[in-house]
Parts: sequence; structure tokens; C-alpha cells
Amino acid sequence: MERLQKVIANSGYTSRRKAEELIKNGQVYVNGELVKELGTKVNPSDEITVEGVTLNKVVNKEYYLLNKPRGYICSLDDEKNRKIVTELINTKERIYPVGRLDYDTTGLLILTNDGELANILMHPSNDIIKTYIAKLEGILTMEEYFKLKEGIVIDGVKCVPKRVKIKKKDNVSNTCMVEISIVEGRNHIVKKLFSKVNHAVIKLKRESYAFLNVKDLKSKEYRELTREEISKLYALKK
Ligand code: URA
Repeated sequence: MERLQKVIANSGYTSRRKAEELIKNGQVYVNGELVKELGTKVNPSDEITVEGVTLNKVVNKEYYLLNKPRGYICSLDDEKNRKIVTELINTKERIYPVGRLDYDTTGLLILTNDGELANILMHPSNDIIKTYIAKLEGILTMEEYFKLKEGIVIDGVKCVPKRVKIKKKDNVSNTCMVEISIVEGRNHIVKKLFSKVNHAVIKLKRESYAFLNVKDLKSKEYRELTREEISKLYALKK
């Protein structure tokens, strides 16, 4: 028997905190009965319905590492009918991306149907470092570089990068390449950081995620994570 909010979070439907809100707000049914009490214990065989959606019981857990190409959205469906990342993975399981990369962002993306791991990876307290390489319009000045290093307030919350490194400056095209490592997972965070120092991001690639990288994968290629990698990801939980 497990606590209802944990089972909902582990299914990948939502976070544990949101699951608790949904339970309190009367949005959760167990075997057809409304349950509003947090901590209610449920069996693996119980039918759980959240906001009218019956949760799938995860049978086979799958874990993929994808080198995401441009032009794919990190969502389960898209009202604009754009291509979605899960189309790139050949599986019958209902997997979903861990966090989001923008439509035009490329690089490392983890996809899984293991909600427990997804929650660990997305929880801010676990301080998981993601490294991006950004091509910027204009050349980052030293003043802007130090502003970024000190941290920048985005939507009222300060984001302090773990590392910022100018990799290349091109005076002819007036662009530069900057590597930036952050623990943040907020949407569009890298673009917002650079926009605060007045540079548009022309290209963005996530190169690494904790100890994982996509050096051996071409664009659109993917592989399954190894057992050892999955255990190492679980061990990132603080
Ligand atoms: N930050 C962004 O701005 N975009 C991404 O896709 C990922 C991080």
C-alpha cells in the first residue's frame, strides 16, 4: 500500500505537491469514490482517476537519451500540430520528456515513463547541472559576462549560473559562442538570462545533463540508458 499522492506523482501525471492540491480540491477518485484525504493508502490494483483521467499503471519502465533535433516540441500533444519529441522514439510505452527543451533547442533530452525518477530529476533541490552552448547575437562584453556570473533576477527569482565560459568570438558575423551551466529548470531560462544582458540566442544546444552527454549521438539519434546510469540518476536525490 502506498500514499495516494505518491502513486499519482510516480505515475508521472504531476508532481507530488500538485497531486496533494488535486486531492484536497476533490479532483481524485479511487475505484470510483471521491477521496479528499491526503495520505490515503492505495493498492497497485486500485483504479485512480485524476481530473477525469484514469492513470495508467506503469508496467515496463523505459529510459531514453535523445539528441533532440530542432523543430520538435517537448509535450505530449500540440494544438498547433507541430512534431513532438516522443515521435522520435520507437516504443509502445507512454513515455514523456523530463523537463522541456524549446522547439528550436537541440541536444540532450531524457525521456521515460518512470515518474519517480522524473520527479527527482526535475526537483530544484537536487541541484542537477545542465550545460548549454549558446550562439549569441553580438559579442558578450566582460561587463555582461560578470553580470551573468553574479546571477540575474528572472521573473523575481535570482538565477546564478554555476559556470559561464566564452568559447568563441566572431567579429565578422558579430556572434559568439558561450557555454553556460545551470541547475535551473525554468522554461526558456537560458534565453531569458542572455536577454537580460541584451543578447538574443540564435542557437541553443544542451550538451550535458549531470554526468550524461550526447557526444556519441547524432541529431535525432537515441539510446536506452544503462542500468548503471539509471542508478546514478536515482542517486542524485538529496
Ligand atoms: N533554456 C532555454 O531558454 N531554452 C531551452 O530549451 C532550455 C533552457
